[in-house]
Amino acid sequence: MIPAGSLLTAHDLHKTYGSTPALDGASFSVHPGEVVAVMGPSGSGKSTLLHCLAGIITPDSGTITYAGRELSAMSDAERSALRRSEFGFVFQFGQLVPELTCVENVALPLRLNGTRRRTAERTALEWMERLEVDDLGAKRPGEVSGGQGQRVAVARALAASPKVIFADEPTGALDSLNGERVMQLLTEAARSAGVAVVLVTHEARVAAYSDRDVTVRDGRARDMEHAV
Ligand SMILES: Nc1ncnc2c1ncn2[C@@H]1O[C@H](COP(=O)(O)OP(=O)(O)O)[C@@H](O)[C@H]1O
Ligand SMILES: [Mg+2]
Repeated sequence: MIPAGSLLTAHDLHKTYGSTPALDGASFSVHPGEVVAVMGPSGSGKSTLLHCLAGIITPDSGTITYAGRELSAMSDAERSALRRSEFGFVFQFGQLVPELTCVENVALPLRLNGTRRRTAERTALEWMERLEVDDLGAKRPGEVSGGQGQRVAVARALAASPKVIFADEPTGALDSLNGERVMQLLTEAARSAGVAVVLVTHEARVAAYSDRDVTVRDGRARDMEHAV
């Protein structure tokens, strides 16, 4: 059931919160370097699907396979290590660490992977340059605009050379001009680095930056790669 060449695949996921079914037979896959938009109305299960794919929450049933390995067969420590080394994250509100400067925030995933401070900050600045926020290195997140903060968050997601970036409504808190710019820079940087992007959004304008769309309705993802 794993589409040929796919990097990350979910098959027939179910997840229930109390009596609320969040996922009800969702299947999904993304290829290396592919940008896939996960669309659907609010409450349809998009974030739940993303959190399952990223190994943040465990589905009640169904399988998730990353690079040939089943997430459920890994220990918690192995899944955390996978998230740190292979995955990058961007959320609606950048979730930058307020006490750190922007360059320290971008360097953080590299520091956590054991990279020395100087090397990490040099790499961080290179990514900030590509996201056009390198002049903000010394500022703290509270001192930059929403659009700038999201570009810093994108730089942070890319800094540790992940294979997949998970972006959950990354432009949800931005006006359309800033949102477009963030999407343009995110998809350009990801494509040139060969990083796959799982992009959750309910905005068609944002999904236009993807290679392919998957629609989630009532917890069921319609991924045309999976003939159901
Ligand atoms: N932690 C949780 N506890 C209880 N219910 C949840 C939780 N997370 C999501 N849900 C419910 O699961 C359904 C899908 O939610 P979600 O995946 O966040 O949808 P979306 O991201 O598409 O808006 C919704 O009905 C939501 O209320
Ligand atoms: Mg959501």
